[in-house]
Amino acid sequence: MSAAGAAQAQTAPAPLEAHVWPLSATVSDDGVLSLAGIDVTTLAEDFGTPAYILDEGHFRARARLFVESFTQAFAPLGTSVDVYYAGKSFLSVAVAKWAREEGLRVDTCTGGELAVALRAGVPGAEIGLHGNNKSDSEIARAIEARVGRIVVDSFAEIERVAAAARAAGRTATDPVPVMVRVTTGIHAGGHEFISTAHEDQKFGISLAGGQALAALTAVLGHPELELLGAHTHIGSQIQDAEAFEVNARTMLGLREDLHAATGYLMPELDLGGGYGIAYTPDETPIDVPSLARDLAGVIADVCTELGTTVPRISIEPGRAIVGSTTVTVYTVGVVKPVTIDDGSVRLYVSVDGGMSDNIRPALYDARYTARLANRTGSAQTVRARVVGKHCESGDIVISDIALPADIAPGDLLAVPATGAYGRSMASNYNHVLRPPVVAVDAGQARVIVRRETEDDLLALDLG
Ligand code: LLP
Repeated sequence: MSAAGAAQAQTAPAPLEAHVWPLSATVSDDGVLSLAGIDVTTLAEDFGTPAYILDEGHFRARARLFVESFTQAFAPLGTSVDVYYAGKSFLSVAVAKWAREEGLRVDTCTGGELAVALRAGVPGAEIGLHGNNKSDSEIARAIEARVGRIVVDSFAEIERVAAAARAAGRTATDPVPVMVRVTTGIHAGGHEFISTAHEDQKFGISLAGGQALAALTAVLGHPELELLGAHTHIGSQIQDAEAFEVNARTMLGLREDLHAATGYLMPELDLGGGYGIAYTPDETPIDVPSLARDLAGVIADVCTELGTTVPRISIEPGRAIVGSTTVTVYTVGVVKPVTIDDGSVRLYVSVDGGMSDNIRPALYDARYTARLANRTGSAQTVRARVVGKHCESGDIVISDIALPADIAPGDLLAVPATGAYGRSMASNYNHVLRPPVVAVDAGQARVIVRRETEDDLLALDLG
């Protein structure tokens, strides 16, 4: 290579790892990241930092991919699939509208999420309500909104939902649709706290000892309730598609057991969410079309083995729809070389957010990647740790990353794959103001959740 060529190679920006960044992300020759055709330098100027920048086209594409892949895979089985967008991953009025426009329903797990879905104009019939500890008012509100399903999570709740149904005047001719959340003992996913279907935790009713069967039978004993089916969710950020297949097999077995015991064949099974994405370049996201095909294959086989009809299926992806759509853009502040125990130096790069906008590294040891977003940095890299601005040493965004050695105060740092459980788990720790969510699409940017202000904080403080 000529000297000029070598110099050029040194200053060319590193390519984007496509599976980690939003679909519309590109990098210019001078190293500026842009999303949906808008430079992040412009976005930072217009909306400030930190900010979550959400690629609307990517969200819609992922939503459609789930609907199309599952519809196509299950149509030959003579059944349909409802895709519920799991609002806990990130819900706002705009996002709920997009989900609906793309043919999804909305899964909520609190009165607050239900309120947002309703405000977005999602019809009650297209909303599901979860929760292991629903309040009476959440149950009453869901019944009043005529949600498409209340997923009951305990024996006591079956009685409470039934009582609320009767109080609302619902009878056998107009029953409240419910599902029963079942724990199948199958669990998968990144971290114990995000694995939800094993036994020693708070969700659902266990298959063990015939408990799930008893719960389903108890629902059948209430004419004011309609048993739509059984629900299961085995965990989150699952990369191994086989776990879903084993789980589907178990749920079909339960459906058959109930059929044998009571003569009632549940029309639907909800297989939950949990489909994994790539946070870092070395991770592989679940391939949605092949997941849908494999699941359909297993369900077809098991139904043939059992000599039963194929149920309607529903799924509840959250992260796999919104996760990769969003990039958090931070401004770099203090850059501090720190000599660590082994005598080597680690560069601490402080950004203007941290654990209040992304609690996942502190909570789950979650790993992220980042890139300098406003220019091409030096080809020489240093071992760095990206940290936030909170009064806590565990306030780490990325524990270990190679960053350009010349990273400096005022630079922009972009962290991809922050769309799920980022803004939705954001806090006001240290009275830091929660960042806005800015939707970008075809050269246009629009704030869909505005930045918090000090007035917002003080509005709750009654002095
Ligand atoms: N359905 C149910 C009943 C769930 O409990 C969950 C997630 C989902 C659907 C959506 O799962 P997804 O497709 O997004 O993985 N805060 C954690 C994740 C907690 C997930 C809880 N339940 C995280 O940041 O990784």
